[in-house]
Amino acid sequence: MIDVSDTYLSPYFLSFLENAMSTPAPTEQFKALDACHQQIQEHLVGLQRMASHMESQGLNDADRHQAGEIEAFFSSTSREHHEQEEKHVFPPLLATGSEEMKSVVRSLQQDHGFIEENWIELGPQLRAIAEGNDWFDAAEFQHNVSLFLELMNGHIALEESMIYPESKAIWADAIAKRIAR
Ligand SMILES: [Fe+2]
Ligand SMILES: [Fe+2]
Repeated sequence: MIDVSDTYLSPYFLSFLENAMSTPAPTEQFKALDACHQQIQEHLVGLQRMASHMESQGLNDADRHQAGEIEAFFSSTSREHHEQEEKHVFPPLLATGSEEMKSVVRSLQQDHGFIEENWIELGPQLRAIAEGNDWFDAAEFQHNVSLFLELMNGHIALEESMIYPESKAIWADAIAKRIAR
């Protein structure tokens, strides 16, 4: 457990807590982040199914519709989820965590960058599929899908096993201390 006594609270984390007192309770924020992971995983399953359809039997109207929904989700909700983590989850861990935890967080930050780079190529391909255009190279699309699935699944597994529990503990402890004053 990370020690979050006042001497360890960075100015950034204090302002983070100030903000927390006037915004939805942290448990609610974590519920939203957890729920978003669930949604991400559902869309990843859909993406995998759609990509294998494309290879085995060709795309039908339902696949094209699904491609549009997947593109919209990862271009908006999923990107916002990463922004929320960068803003609310990672900084306290970087400020107060062990060296091991900081290294995990830095690797997760790097993942966000890799995911974005991959999405910049995959997103327009999915949008094209949704609009009935197949201007892109199919093998390149399949490669982008595999990479996206691998990056996202690995990223979520690491966050849920290493980061979220620690971050929830920091929130709970620091806020309890503040309330007790
Ligand atoms: Fe993340
Ligand atoms: Fe996440």
